[in-house]
Amino acid sequence: MTEPAHLRAIRAAYDTVAADYATLLRTELDTKPLDRAMLAAFAELVRADDVGPVADLGCGPGRVTAHLHGLGVPAFGIDLSPEMVAVARRSHPELRFEEGSMTALDLADGALGGIVAWYSIIHTPPELLPDVFAEFHRVLAPGGRLLLAFKAGNEHRHLARAYGHDLSLDVHWLAPDHVAGLADKAGLTADARLIREPDERERPTQGRQAYLLAHRRGEVGRS
Ligand SMILES: C[S@@+](CC[C@H](N)C(=O)[O-])C[C@H]1O[C@@H](n2cnc3c(N)ncnc32)[C@H](O)[C@@H]1O
Repeated sequence: MTEPAHLRAIRAAYDTVAADYATLLRTELDTKPLDRAMLAAFAELVRADDVGPVADLGCGPGRVTAHLHGLGVPAFGIDLSPEMVAVARRSHPELRFEEGSMTALDLADGALGGIVAWYSIIHTPPELLPDVFAEFHRVLAPGGRLLLAFKAGNEHRHLARAYGHDLSLDVHWLAPDHVAGLADKAGLTADARLIREPDERERPTQGRQAYLLAHRRGEVGRS
């Protein structure tokens, strides 16, 4: 089957920027207490559930995968970009990183205790997000957790330059209510959402940032 054009475009863009992206964002989480708070809550829940490993989908250089690992979560990463996967493997040789797309995961039904998609659904054309959420639902075990980070809004930008490189990349700002509705339609119930204002560094070009924590319906005792 021919690969959709948007996946080829995302891969080409992130292959181009992988090394510089990794350097620029290496310590970014250290400056973001609210991001760390959402990751800490997610980690505590998946550790308590103990129903399976956690996939960091669109893991990029693996900084969030490594952060989760540091919180005691059995995490591994998957990314579309082979260059990102190579950077992640070099940076975190103790962790597992694979090439793949969140739109068609090489994982069995119900294989995961959790999914983190940290600023990685933002490049998917919004009309295709229902397919992405259906795939998340398929690979999560009943009760399995989902944590999303994305740019809050209702806007589409085309980037011709980013992280010091010329490229071609679409970015979609998404309304948190809409994202929660899509998740719900796929069988993923929202448990919490956080919307924070842009910080100093983000303010010149970015807006609000959104985080959604959800779980797959169906586990006895949580529905
Ligand atoms: C903004 S970066 C975020 C990387 C990482 N989550 C982080 O926070 O540093 C977006 C990443 O998502 C990946 N990505 C986008 N769409 C994807 C898809 N359909 N499947 C797998 N990875 C994808 C890109 O290759 C890129 O590495």
